[in-house]
Amino acid sequence: MAKKRQVYIETYGCQMNLADTEVVLSILAGAGYGQTTSLRSADVVFVNTCAVRENAEQRVYGRLGDFRRYKKENPGMIVGVLGCMAERLRKDLMQSESHVDLVVGPDEYRRLPELIEGAINGERGIAVKLSRVENYDDILPLRTEGISAWISVMRGCDKFCTFCVVPFTRGRERSRSMESIVREVEHLGARGFKEVSLLGQNVNSYLDGQHDFSDLMAAVAHVDRSMRVRFTTSHPQDMSDKLLRTIAEQENICNYIHLPVQSGSDRILDLMNRTYTRGQYLSLVHKIRTMIPEISLSTDIIAGFPTETADDHHRTLDVIREVGFDGAFTFKYSPRENTKAWHMGDDVAEELKTERLNEIIDLQREISLQKNEAMINTACEVLVEGESTKSANDYCGRTDSNKMVVFPKGVCEIGQYLNVRIDRANSATLFGISLGASAREIGDPKLAANA
Ligand code: 5AD
Ligand code: SF4
Repeated sequence: MAKKRQVYIETYGCQMNLADTEVVLSILAGAGYGQTTSLRSADVVFVNTCAVRENAEQRVYGRLGDFRRYKKENPGMIVGVLGCMAERLRKDLMQSESHVDLVVGPDEYRRLPELIEGAINGERGIAVKLSRVENYDDILPLRTEGISAWISVMRGCDKFCTFCVVPFTRGRERSRSMESIVREVEHLGARGFKEVSLLGQNVNSYLDGQHDFSDLMAAVAHVDRSMRVRFTTSHPQDMSDKLLRTIAEQENICNYIHLPVQSGSDRILDLMNRTYTRGQYLSLVHKIRTMIPEISLSTDIIAGFPTETADDHHRTLDVIREVGFDGAFTFKYSPRENTKAWHMGDDVAEELKTERLNEIIDLQREISLQKNEAMINTACEVLVEGESTKSANDYCGRTDSNKMVVFPKGVCEIGQYLNVRIDRANSATLFGISLGASAREIGDPKLAANA
């Protein structure tokens, strides 16, 4: 029998891309390909790319430079660019002196086996059509064993924030069927997975006929009460009361919402087309905290959007203080061709963007530290995820509220729920001691009471 062709794939960018890579691997496994983690032994090399900011693209270009060297040693090797950069930079990637053989956008992965065959026969291939319906609903992603799985439940984005390429690189919103998502979760539960994260660029606008995102969350939460359910990313506009009630009611839906605010200035929010004001965002946070008092909130913030003044920037710092986020992902504005903001210019000087970004990071670090220190001497439930990256004597895992906890290994195992007493904290991590299996691990019937 001929040796299986081997695929090597590197993934950049958001969690949607990680989930897409598993779809790609499943499609290729179905066509007889094996997966390798060694570039040298690969017949096909893919990069699944992100186009959301310039620096993400630069990293991929750097990596493509490395692949050029491997291809010199192994001229039969097929190199392909998948994902958002394939949509945005198709011409550039396919120019004649490029060594890229395939450029395939996020809605064309079913065609990969056919395109690879073509490339082996010397035809460079490009497939970048966006679809209104493709959601890979029938494809079971190829996942390695583990305890935590990403499940893409909707694709695309219709929000058109003026800074963002996603609506152009991933196309219109479309949702998978609730039925197939629930089946996938059942399958993961049977394989021993303990946590699922439902993913979408705009996950809370999920809609499958009569079922909205809260219906989906409730259905997923019922599959297995010992499984944690997370979700990301939510847009403030689609954060319904019904969804908040579902999060509050379902014990195994984590008390954590990632809710990008982007800016604290109404003028900038309007220019960004975020569809809410600072006041509306703050009222939403107030409502969330009233309905789910133990909720943990994180956010995304952009520093240096076009025309941003010192006053706008201070409003962003104020909103960070006022909300007191548990964490924030912070970015310097990066102009993206063809977006509306691209035409607004990029008038905040690079040094000023850096300065503002650093102020935001410093402030958030201070707040995160305070919040983490407040947990010292309390016990929290942790799902053991694996060995700590810093010490082979320690395990790490996350709390329901998505905080990382490091503790000595003791007798516990990966995939168990433990109660951990927190003894020490920095702005990113909590440190503690295991108090033994939690009620969920023991199978306390009270935890299943709202099933
Ligand atoms: N520049 C900087 N940050 C951006 N993001 C999206 N587009 C840009 C851009 N052009 C950030 C937003 C979004 C997160 C995923 O990436 O904060 O929420
Ligand atoms: Fe981009 Fe805005 Fe859609 Fe998020 S909601 S993917 S920032 S357009």
